[in-house]
Amino acid sequence: MKTLLGLVASPRKHGNSELFIKELFRNLPDGWHLRMLRLPELDIRPCIACYQCLFGEMRCVQKDDMELFLGELAAADAVALAVPTYFLGANASLKRVLDRGLSFYARMDDLWGKPAVGVAVAGVPGLEGYTKLMVDSFLKLILADHRGSDVLYGALPGEIFLGEAAKACARRLASALTDGAAADVVPRCPLCGGDTFRFLPRNDETPSGWQRVRCMVCSNEGTIGWEGGSLRVETRRGLHPLFLTYEDAKAHLEWLRTMKDAFLAKRKELKEITRPYTAVGQWVRPEKTKREET
Ligand SMILES: Cc1cc2nc3c(=O)[nH]c(=O)nc-3n(C[C@H](O)[C@H](O)[C@H](O)COP(=O)(O)O)c2cc1C
Repeated sequence: MKTLLGLVASPRKHGNSELFIKELFRNLPDGWHLRMLRLPELDIRPCIACYQCLFGEMRCVQKDDMELFLGELAAADAVALAVPTYFLGANASLKRVLDRGLSFYARMDDLWGKPAVGVAVAGVPGLEGYTKLMVDSFLKLILADHRGSDVLYGALPGEIFLGEAAKACARRLASALTDGAAADVVPRCPLCGGDTFRFLPRNDETPSGWQRVRCMVCSNEGTIGWEGGSLRVETRRGLHPLFLTYEDAKAHLEWLRTMKDAFLAKRKELKEITRPYTAVGQWVRPEKTKREET
């Protein structure tokens, strides 16, 4: 029996995200089992930027549901993510998990290369903002093999299935999980498959008639231009590839670890920079924080 882990980033029971995950599962062949995590239900505390999870036992100092999340992710054979749009971006439960992403490195060998797909759900056609970008980033940063993602529209619970698009998407993404990524329908970053780009100012190397861009998923730079009647995207590996290959991910972890020594070496100099700012301004603190500090 294989396990599909369905990640539902909506607090709404029987909402569109949950229904989509269940529909996708129904399109998998026999021999699959569905386990689900409702992300807003998890107690995931903020990362406190202590970097302890990168050293020694590689365990986060926070005692919360992140271990549960990582355990389920590590045990799954494939992942499906469904995320509702809240104010043009993903529901915050997705980012809360992602902010703890340094913990993914401790489980790198268990996580690397799992087939994964995702959808962004938005209530108003065209108002998904950057939610799909967050879905794509999330699937890459959990070190999965991103096999496809899409945007679905529906506001009321169940509304995504009033038309045929969401059911067709569930069929397409289910077969992408078992048979490999579906064919591209839009120009994509050749390095990571991302389809969201930021326009950058031209530089001396930008060919005339081409636009310099950065892929917002893998962060690599390149150009977009018309060639032979179709839009062509070229991107080049930069200095910090995060997740393009297993070796890249390992190298990024090693680079992160070097920051400890870099900090110790520059500590005095950095203190000189920060000191003049110490007494500037008045902090407004919630009562709870003040009580904890005394
Ligand atoms: C606080 C809040 C903010 C929302 N913001 C957006 C938005 O920016 N764009 C949009 O298209 N839909 C927005 N929606 C609608 C939801 O994305 C939509 O209802 C979706 O179907 C919810 O998915 P769910 O049923 O899985 O919870 C918002 C909903 C809520 C509750």
